[in-house]
Amino acid sequence: MPSLTKHEQCAAARPLLPRGSGVQKHLHPSNGSREPEAAGKVASRPKGFLSAILCYPGLEGPSRYRSYDLFFTRYTALCIAVISLIVSGYYLPSVWAIPLFGVSLMLTLIGLYDMAQPVHSVRRNYPIVGHLRWLFEDIRPELRQYLIEGDHEQTPFSRSQRSLVYARSKNETSDRAFGTQLDVYAPGYEFISHSTRPAPPADPASFRIRIGNDQCSQPYMASIFNISAMSFGSLSAHAIRALNKGAKLGGFAHDTGEGSVSPYHQQYGGDLIWELGTGYFGCRTADGQFDPAAFAKKAADPQIRMIEIKLSQGAKPGHGGILPASKVTEEISATRGVPMDKDCISPARHRAFSTPVEMMQFVADLRRLSGGKPVGFKLCIGQPWEFMAIVKAMRQTSIVPDFIVVDGAEGGTGASPLEFSDHIGMPLREGLLFVHNTLVATNLRSQIRIGAAGKVTSAFDIACLLALGADWTNAGRGFMFALGCIQSLTCHTNRCPVGVATQDPLRQRALVVPDKAERVFNYHRNTLHALSEMIAAAGLEHPSQIRPHHLARRVSLTEIRLFSQLHTFLAAGDLLRGDKAPSFYAEAWNLASHDSFDLVEPGSRG
Ligand SMILES: Cc1cc2nc3c(=O)[nH]c(=O)nc-3n(C[C@H](O)[C@H](O)[C@H](O)COP(=O)(O)O)c2cc1C
Ligand code: SF4
Repeated sequence: MPSLTKHEQCAAARPLLPRGSGVQKHLHPSNGSREPEAAGKVASRPKGFLSAILCYPGLEGPSRYRSYDLFFTRYTALCIAVISLIVSGYYLPSVWAIPLFGVSLMLTLIGLYDMAQPVHSVRRNYPIVGHLRWLFEDIRPELRQYLIEGDHEQTPFSRSQRSLVYARSKNETSDRAFGTQLDVYAPGYEFISHSTRPAPPADPASFRIRIGNDQCSQPYMASIFNISAMSFGSLSAHAIRALNKGAKLGGFAHDTGEGSVSPYHQQYGGDLIWELGTGYFGCRTADGQFDPAAFAKKAADPQIRMIEIKLSQGAKPGHGGILPASKVTEEISATRGVPMDKDCISPARHRAFSTPVEMMQFVADLRRLSGGKPVGFKLCIGQPWEFMAIVKAMRQTSIVPDFIVVDGAEGGTGASPLEFSDHIGMPLREGLLFVHNTLVATNLRSQIRIGAAGKVTSAFDIACLLALGADWTNAGRGFMFALGCIQSLTCHTNRCPVGVATQDPLRQRALVVPDKAERVFNYHRNTLHALSEMIAAAGLEHPSQIRPHHLARRVSLTEIRLFSQLHTFLAAGDLLRGDKAPSFYAEAWNLASHDSFDLVEPGSRG
């Protein structure tokens, strides 16, 4: 007779069980399989409390021998704790026995609780030692980062990227010995083409651009490298103070993020870009509508240099936000103008406008109310015709924003649902190119400056984005590294180990403002210095001279292409001349309407 597996033996025995034995009653309604409950009865299962904590599958049916296995492998830690408890209890009150008894008692209670609790299967089967799983899960990022991760593995920033920021912010050398560690033959490898006639390196202080078209009366001379939007609430008060002080020292801009302008933004007087999200924090009525009077009052502050309407953010486009009531501190409540006892909601869409034309009128209103400061908007590109609808509205109303900030899907956030971070929104380079091309092809590019944000840490990152159409770049997480972020990836838990992304006053103590402000300043300065040397090697004197043909990428083992060959660049007026634009652009343009964000079906217009 062929030998049966234990599972087969069990199945074969099943029909032989007598009716009324109690086992049939426990056949599972959906598949007829026997439940452990019934199996336990067959195997003379322990009763009472012992039964409650020892309802392990090892006592099921013919595999009763597994109980020994269970006991001696899975319950080893608990057994040791119990034995130690008995032995130390016997020798009490000897000096050595007291602590041992205490520890053993604690472990025994934990072990018994683990076996009885119904939530965690691992702890039920492996009392006491099961906790190690959570311990290792907790410290996995650190273990991985310090012991396992490769220098160029991006999670999301590689050790090499982080080390560069740390070195530049501490004014340490970022020079490397012995040549590149990158594989220059790997597809995706990128480089800038140098010139045989390098230029003298320009003064990085001159790397500024004017933001503000002729509809704005207070243009801003911005650095080409600024601090991206990160609100007080997602970042700690100490982090905001250090960022703003660094911005003041280096003469660059600090975006407030949608949490409004807090007293910490104002302490050192660094230039601010005030971001208005859907919650209109800092300028809202009690029911969450935009409040023009409150906006005008705050926007008059000379420290606020520009106004940015936030449409979306790369890490969670189309998703609103919620700060639970428990986290709405007195300061956050005062800064945002929201009550302390309620969740603080950022809706997914704006209420101040609902069509592209209304959006442009809102831009004009903000410009007027702010006394003529530059007004623009930030978005991650989603449905292309929606952005084109906004551009059509600019042409229709002749209201032209001063700037647009393009955020990439690779952007960061304090917290967002995984699907939003991983699978919604256009990556930065494609989004940036699309915005640049659309503005060029509608003859609006000269009036609108473009900023770009998405994993910028080095001078080369800046150069790549400038080559693809950006006028300036922002960094969020790059500046967080300058503040001491170690990429522990726990910003959403309020337990940031270095005081950057937490509202816990004790944890914030870790971040010493004057020291980290200096680092923010150094990081900015040294990065622009590196950019100046880099473009000088390419024979250029100002970052605005970087063009797509200066950058190149390896596309296969044997082929390298210039950015100008890899990407499509539209010419002035292409979209206005009907047949000139490539089909993707022309089709999206035809689907867009200035009076609606909705897609307009071809032929549906009168
Ligand atoms: C902690 C944190 C908070 C953020 N808060 C905001 C915000 O309030 N408003 C916003 O528009 N973007 C916010 N962002 C997105 C950044 O401004 C930026 O667009 C994005 O992270 C890409 O830049 P990075 O890759 O240099 O971080 C936040 C990002 C981080 C990491
Ligand atoms: S150290 Fe961790 S928790 Fe703190 S800011 Fe960095 S990633 Fe967020």
